[in-house]
This record gives sequence, C-alpha cells and structure tokens, in this order.
Amino acid sequence: MKIFVVDPDGHEHALDAVEGWRVMEIIRDHGLPIKAECGGACACATCHVYVDEGWLPKLAAMQSEEEEMLDQAFDVQDNSRLSCQLIMSDALDGLKLWIAPAGG
Ligand code: FES
Repeated sequence: MKIFVVDPDGHEHALDAVEGWRVMEIIRDHGLPIKAECGGACACATCHVYVDEGWLPKLAAMQSEEEEMLDQAFDVQDNSRLSCQLIMSDALDGLKLWIAPAGG
C-alpha cells in the first residue's frame, strides 16, 4: 500500500506504507523533512500534516491529546492532524497529505 506525501517544497512522493505503522514513521523513514521531535508521543506537534479533504472521514477520530497539541501548532487548518496519531491500515491505502510548514 502507498501514501502520497507532498513535501514543503511542493513535490509529491509516493511512499510504501506498512500496516500498523504511524504515518509519521513512514514519512520519516523515507527521509522526508518532518521533525517529529517527540518520536510519536503526541507531545510536540512537529509532525503536523494537512490531510486531503476526501480522506478526512476515513481517519480515526482525534483524541483529546491530539487536539490539545494541535492547539499549539502553527497554521492549523480544518484538515490538520498529527501524523504520529494516524495508524496505517488498508482503509488508508492511497492517503494523501501535505507536510505542514511547522512540521518540517
Ligand atoms: S511526533 Fe510529536 S506529536 Fe507527533
């Protein structure tokens, strides 16, 4: 399965994704610029991404920790999520997102 990630320079990358991995880990392991300073503990908001609107309903609902961290992120939009809180599954095969400026 794949995810499609647009980097802060506007280039789109098709990344091989592994079920059960955090989307943040997939982005990081492919060498794209995402800071993810806390390593996926939902404690930094530097894994901020913008999710393609059509995919939003397929994502697991935000937990309160993610909402609280996103409150501290820059340039938050309606389609903002923390990529360390998105777990890859078959349902997300083809997911498209943008790395947010403050997350990269
Ligand atoms: S990696 Fe820190 S909140 Fe996602």
